[in-house]
Amino acid sequence: MISKLLQQARDYEKEHMKEVAPAERPCYHVTGSRGWINDPNGFSFYKGEYHLFYQYYPYENEWGPMHWGHSVSKDLITWEYRPAIMAPDQPYDNFGCFSGSALELDDGRHLIMYTGVEKVPCADGSIKQYQAQCMAVGDGRDYVKYEGNPVITVKDIPVSGSSEDFRDPKIWQEDDGKFYAVAAGAAGDGTSNILLFGSEDAFHWEFLNVLDSSSKKLGGMWECPDFFELDGKHMLMVSPMAMMPEGLKYHVGHGTLCISGTYDKAAHTFHRESVQPIDSGIDFYAPQTMLTPDGRRVMVAWMQAWSNTKFVPHGVKYFGQLTVPRELSFRDGQLIQQPVRELDAYRTDPVRYDRVEITEETSLEGVNGRVLDMTVKLQADGNYEEFIMKVACGDEYYTSVAYDPKKEVLCIDRSHSGYLFDILHRREIQVPPLNGAVTLRCVMDRFSLEIFINDGSQTATVTYFTPLEAEGITFAAKGKATIGIEKYALSFS
Ligand code: FRU
Repeated sequence: MISKLLQQARDYEKEHMKEVAPAERPCYHVTGSRGWINDPNGFSFYKGEYHLFYQYYPYENEWGPMHWGHSVSKDLITWEYRPAIMAPDQPYDNFGCFSGSALELDDGRHLIMYTGVEKVPCADGSIKQYQAQCMAVGDGRDYVKYEGNPVITVKDIPVSGSSEDFRDPKIWQEDDGKFYAVAAGAAGDGTSNILLFGSEDAFHWEFLNVLDSSSKKLGGMWECPDFFELDGKHMLMVSPMAMMPEGLKYHVGHGTLCISGTYDKAAHTFHRESVQPIDSGIDFYAPQTMLTPDGRRVMVAWMQAWSNTKFVPHGVKYFGQLTVPRELSFRDGQLIQQPVRELDAYRTDPVRYDRVEITEETSLEGVNGRVLDMTVKLQADGNYEEFIMKVACGDEYYTSVAYDPKKEVLCIDRSHSGYLFDILHRREIQVPPLNGAVTLRCVMDRFSLEIFINDGSQTATVTYFTPLEAEGITFAAKGKATIGIEKYALSFS
């Protein structure tokens, strides 16, 4: 039975999604059919399709009582809308159905684990949130919330916790058939714990251990944890709130971390070995991963910064995009990200330049467009002080990517991209060259640029709402720089 609230959301999407013309949306980055989205949820492969759900409020371009929106794809690149699957329609989730994850049960049902948030009115008239973990099962289209919800509450945690911050379960199944989940919990003293739970049947859970903790050094609350094996190590990914900056490695505010280490499966203990940012650009948060049927670990994230969400550019009728799905690997202590290989099938019109000397601002024949996959190889030891590439470039607009070879700093700046808000527009990233060059694979859609730096060993993601006529790309150097280019248009017709 579909609740009134869910039916209302489905009717609303059906009626209003047509108001966004296809050209106003990205070509291959997921957005909500209408209204607001944030974190990717329930990223999974089920009955021959990739399912990508997301935090969703269809009625406004701003965060509201959270629903789950739904898109499906055969190849992780071309997505199709399905009706929303959850609305905040139960007493235990009447404040919102917060983030969570999904997997296929052995009996063929699609299982969702999410955070139900209940509104608890207080004596002083204020409202408190009560967060607990809940389940729902479905068939890839319709889902039914479990009658035993919530399945894990803060009372089930034998360490200090808070019912106001206990969320974002990520579920998986081990080879022995047992289920595990990690969730984020605040410990009440400004730190947060990543809590590990285990279950025989995915509905009855027991607390197993604290896997790691922010210890106040790496932000306060850690949101949206994910935990998985990658190339012989274990990765704990978290999205910390309230980080302090550390050189150019971590910026202030919301960030994302990949903590690599070793996991003792029998003892349920994780030993941290190294910590690195996941993406060093402006718009990247709450990543979630899945394992593809052919064994690739693929990650997708919300392509947006929380601190900028109040500033929806005029005329934009949806808000929030997800990144291109990225294949992960772990090499020499480094997380490596690449756009999923399925993107290659959409490449057309190759353009190549082997060695071009760049001095004053110039454009190169065939190198332009807004929807493309372009790798620029910049010799880092050239005779120049700064190299500047501009994309989404028109008479008044551009977003620049500049490299200072002396400081080994890459700077992204979207202050001329057309945003008329005094928000964060600039980010500097320490980028040492690799084998004498800095390689920038720029994966662009209409309203975003994702840079995979030096074979994906660092990434930087930025969004902009520059008018689509601004499709120039220029290169300039203070001094003389040498670049090579391999560029493809991405075609979705
Ligand atoms: C992260 C987050 C999650 C929460 C969701 C609510 O962006 O704050 O912790 O579940 O968004 O929409």
